[in-house]
Amino acid sequence: MQPAELVSRDGALDLVLEAAPAMLPWRGGERWALTYNGSAPGPTLRVRPGDRLRVTLRNGLESPTNLHVHGLHVSPAGASDNVFVMVDPGGEHVYEYLIPADHPSGTFWYHPHHHGTVAEQVAAGMAGIIVIEDPLDAGPPIAGTTERVMVLTDPRIGTSAEVVLGWSPMDMMRGRFGDGVLVNGTAQPVLDVATGTMERWRILNASASRYYPLRLDGFRWWQIASDGGRLTAPVDATGLVIAPGERAEVLVAVDRATTATITTTWQAATGMGGMDGMGGMGGRGSGAVETVLTVVASGPDAVVAAPSGSLNRVESLVDAVVDRSRTFRLAMGGMMMGGGDGMSFTINGASFDPQRIDVTASVGTVEEWTVTNASPMAHPFHLHVWPFQVIETSDRRTPPSGWKDVVDVPAGGWVRLRVAFADFAGRTVYHCHILDHEDRGMMGIIEVQ
Ligand code: C2O
Ligand code: CU
Ligand code: CU
Repeated sequence: MQPAELVSRDGALDLVLEAAPAMLPWRGGERWALTYNGSAPGPTLRVRPGDRLRVTLRNGLESPTNLHVHGLHVSPAGASDNVFVMVDPGGEHVYEYLIPADHPSGTFWYHPHHHGTVAEQVAAGMAGIIVIEDPLDAGPPIAGTTERVMVLTDPRIGTSAEVVLGWSPMDMMRGRFGDGVLVNGTAQPVLDVATGTMERWRILNASASRYYPLRLDGFRWWQIASDGGRLTAPVDATGLVIAPGERAEVLVAVDRATTATITTTWQAATGMGGMDGMGGMGGRGSGAVETVLTVVASGPDAVVAAPSGSLNRVESLVDAVVDRSRTFRLAMGGMMMGGGDGMSFTINGASFDPQRIDVTASVGTVEEWTVTNASPMAHPFHLHVWPFQVIETSDRRTPPSGWKDVVDVPAGGWVRLRVAFADFAGRTVYHCHILDHEDRGMMGIIEVQ
């Protein structure tokens, strides 16, 4: 159930990613999907700090596409992580990413980013993981663990483009919720594991809209990394919620022979509950529980020590000198019941305009951003290229100790974060990672000079 893996050699990884529809195996039959190299998720790319990653993107779709490396701290300019590039059907583009030698290790991902087609393409299957590994991955408590990636998606299941891409305007307004959660393209997979081992899972929420509150019954687990790499120390993963675009790395102590499950719940706590009264969330009620994965452990009982000690040194921005403060107000307007047409999705009152630069910042400065949410729905806020730290939130969540690139902004709430624009000049975007909201305008352009 693991995606194919492509690994860098001698400081470089060179590959072709072909974006194209394909039929994938599904419960003895087939399902239609949009894929990279014929699979959904696409291949896992495994690289190291200092590597050069070169991707030739070929567009075998009927709509324009491009490629974004979500979470990588690389240049947004030229042939690097430039989301303003457009690759027409039949065309290709060669991306070259120079990964800095001091890039944090962690779980990142790639997906299309052509404004207007992002939600459709990602929801239909186009996403893959990028792992950056460094020497810390070979030390305790990670050495000796069994590593797996888990890409969570919830596509429409069907045998034709008409079914899989046939979303209504109402779906697009409140978010696309498909036919159940898949792990690496499989529904409710069963994972066989051995007692006496520690599992290490890199979990990515690649869904277009859905939040995943995750609950593991049967084993203890700890979160060791979030979006931008390791936390300073492991934390109990009880209550883990992964918003669209977010990642979490967890360790799972397999200490006895049992059958454990990961479940997820449709819940109001994510702020999505506000949409319930409208028959939202694909018709499922708040509180409905769905199995994500079953873990079957066999072997003699064994003691598996909890991970302890320091994982990482993260320079905290809490005491940093803030050079500039800004506010971003996320809002939805218009008729909610009108089928979605006429809805507006804005940041500071404006919809995305590719010709307008919304924010100009300076290399070498630290900014504090307060992101407010005036709408009845949660929005996961995302910034490209420059990771941030969450300082404070309206719902008093404990901010994670590591770097983030997506943060949930609860309905009617706010978050405060700090960004260090330490390097890389250029133009890129920040946006809501409910991808229909992004496609409909909840996105702005930042230029760093
Ligand atoms: Cu995951 Cu702007 O992207
Ligand atoms: Cu991104
Ligand atoms: Cu949103």
